[in-house]
Amino acid sequence: MSATSVIGLQWGDEAKGKIVDLLTPEHDIVVRYLGGNNAGHTVKFDGETYKLSLLPAGILHRSVVSVIATGVVINPKAFLTELDGITSRRGDVPPTQMLISDRAHVIFPYHIAEEAAFEKARGGNAIGTTGRGIGTCYRDKAGRTHAIRMADLIRPEALKRRLNEVVPQKNQAIKALDPSMTPFDADAIFAEYTTYADRLRPYVTDTTAFLHRAVRENKKLLFEGAQGCLLDIDHGTFPYVTSSNSSGCGIHSGSGVSERVINRMIGVVKAYTTRVGGGPFPTELLNETGNRIREVGREYGTVTGRPRRCGWFDAVATGYGARLSGVDCLAVMLLDVLSGIPDLQICEAYDIDGQRVVDFPSQVEDLARAKPILRSVPGWTEDITGVRKLANLPANARRYVDTIQELIGYPVQIVSVGPDREQTILD
Ligand code: IMP
Repeated sequence: MSATSVIGLQWGDEAKGKIVDLLTPEHDIVVRYLGGNNAGHTVKFDGETYKLSLLPAGILHRSVVSVIATGVVINPKAFLTELDGITSRRGDVPPTQMLISDRAHVIFPYHIAEEAAFEKARGGNAIGTTGRGIGTCYRDKAGRTHAIRMADLIRPEALKRRLNEVVPQKNQAIKALDPSMTPFDADAIFAEYTTYADRLRPYVTDTTAFLHRAVRENKKLLFEGAQGCLLDIDHGTFPYVTSSNSSGCGIHSGSGVSERVINRMIGVVKAYTTRVGGGPFPTELLNETGNRIREVGREYGTVTGRPRRCGWFDAVATGYGARLSGVDCLAVMLLDVLSGIPDLQICEAYDIDGQRVVDFPSQVEDLARAKPILRSVPGWTEDITGVRKLANLPANARRYVDTIQELIGYPVQIVSVGPDREQTILD
């Protein structure tokens, strides 16, 4: 039994795609198990840059099977656009190489409209979603009555019946929030979605049974996390979270495979912190250093292009993410982005109303009052992008990595010093 999982321990965008890409050749199957086209991976492969959202980063490797498991929400149009992009650059993806769960839920245009209306109604308290209808699709999944799954999508009679039931009710609900909305037409959606269904049908199957068989056959599985622990619907900074279990807690429910098969859980962290969308961020840097990190680290959303909020590494938040997911080791990404910043800081605790707090607060109101207690770590000026061994890092860069390791309490086994696969230190 051999399975690896790659989990982001912060608010997403930890560069998990690079780690997944590095590990993929050692595996037989790559499993994406949550989220949808809200996620974004930028992967460099064969000297070319690929931006992936719904497709697993494993799709670039012909040697593995990519599985889009039950916990994912699928926008078929976005999916096919992405697939066509890959096909045009790397050739066809046959159904033997990619499987989509028949239990996964489908995103429709009314989910996107509904989410826009909800966000508008929240005004200044908007969650700052990616606007992809992710939360409203998961809302329908939990509510059950309005949900449409991949198995319904590929059966025309079922799809027609479900759309005829659901669309009029959706129109009423959205109109109540936004009287100016143009009502959706069930027949038009049916016509559009049956064309998607025709292309997707060969890929749709019971992925849980497939994965159970793979486990029995001792195949090597790689679970590819999306978003990050602090965006987890149950354990994150609610309500400024995504709508699924994006910490390690979601692997079992999202894939149908027990996490007991996993023997290596890698927690991926940036050497600093970023966040997109609303919600408290204790170590945020609203100054020149924050701007510098954003520019050097190209911290703009893969999916929405939004500038990411940037700040110091937060060991309280990240340590919580690591414990939540039960990681074995850490991968520290984008360390090179910090080169040249003279005085680095790492948050080791929070001051909340005069109390020193090391447990990540369960309520965002408390997190919003948290002032970071910072530990200074001297910076380095050397270019580290060519370093391939921990021992060859400048002393201060090594000290920085050691401080992360000490504060989080898990060993750092991977350090990334640039976007290319070779720019990686494997301890
Ligand atoms: P949603 O997932 O579109 O509902 O957005 C909810 C929150 O999660 C927003 O703050 C988004 O910016 C954030 N979010 C969703 N996906 C990602 C991601 O892949 N990286 C970083 N933040 C994300």
